[in-house]
Amino acid sequence: MGPRPGSRGTGCRHRIAGWDQGVGRRLIIETRRQQSRITREYTRLARAYDTKWSFYVDATTRSTLSRLNLRAHERLLDIGCGTGVLLHRLSADHPALQLTGLDPVPDMLRIARHRLAPDLELCAGWAEALPFMDDRFDVVVCCSMFHCIARPDIALREVRRVLEPDGRLVITDWCGDYLTCRMLKRYLRLSDRAQTYVHRAHELRQLAASAGFAATTTDRYKISRLWGMMTMTLRPAHTSVPITTAR
Ligand SMILES: C[S@@+](CC[C@H](N)C(=O)[O-])C[C@H]1O[C@@H](n2cnc3c(N)ncnc32)[C@H](O)[C@@H]1O
Repeated sequence: MGPRPGSRGTGCRHRIAGWDQGVGRRLIIETRRQQSRITREYTRLARAYDTKWSFYVDATTRSTLSRLNLRAHERLLDIGCGTGVLLHRLSADHPALQLTGLDPVPDMLRIARHRLAPDLELCAGWAEALPFMDDRFDVVVCCSMFHCIARPDIALREVRRVLEPDGRLVITDWCGDYLTCRMLKRYLRLSDRAQTYVHRAHELRQLAASAGFAATTTDRYKISRLWGMMTMTLRPAHTSVPITTAR
């Protein structure tokens, strides 16, 4: 093992290994903490979610749908599907799609189950450990959930794994390029119920590139004076980036 980038190259292997393990442990602990916060927060929110967030969900869902460029019969996974609004609109507009939703919070999934046709596949799980075989989907969508992910690097590698080589990932989320979103992030961190990780467009592109994606389009737009959003479409970059299953 060589020295970690940025170190002075002391050749002190056990100290470097200790550093890696310490960082690894902290990341695991932080991920678990975030997962508990998410579960608590969305269990609390589930019943009121559709009413309380109706304007926001309607606007972000419409913005995302208009950028999906779907073909009939595609297999689509909605990660963090919440109460299933996006899947519901997709099944009405594109009945031939094969739709799957994933969310870790049982109370959110219960509402989605109620809203959606009984044969639409819904699974419990986290983006960081997708319970699907490799190359299973043509399209993966993350709508308003990327800011919740403590380890987006792992989640993106997982998406890369379950996407087929010519597939695409579409992310709609808060955009840190807007001052209002950066202020919102500060406010939410202070009132901390669930930690938020608001990315700027170039940060998201960099993260995605490290996981083997290339951004094909990035749209930034506002849905209200407060909410500045981005929708990014990414495709596997066909680089030599190793695609490993991260667990
Ligand atoms: C703000 S809601 C968005 C729900 C839905 N996509 C929408 O647009 O209405 C965020 C959702 O992401 C889910 N979520 C949070 N962290 C997640 C993770 N790491 N993996 C998968 N889903 C996650 C939450 O349980 C919640 O249902």
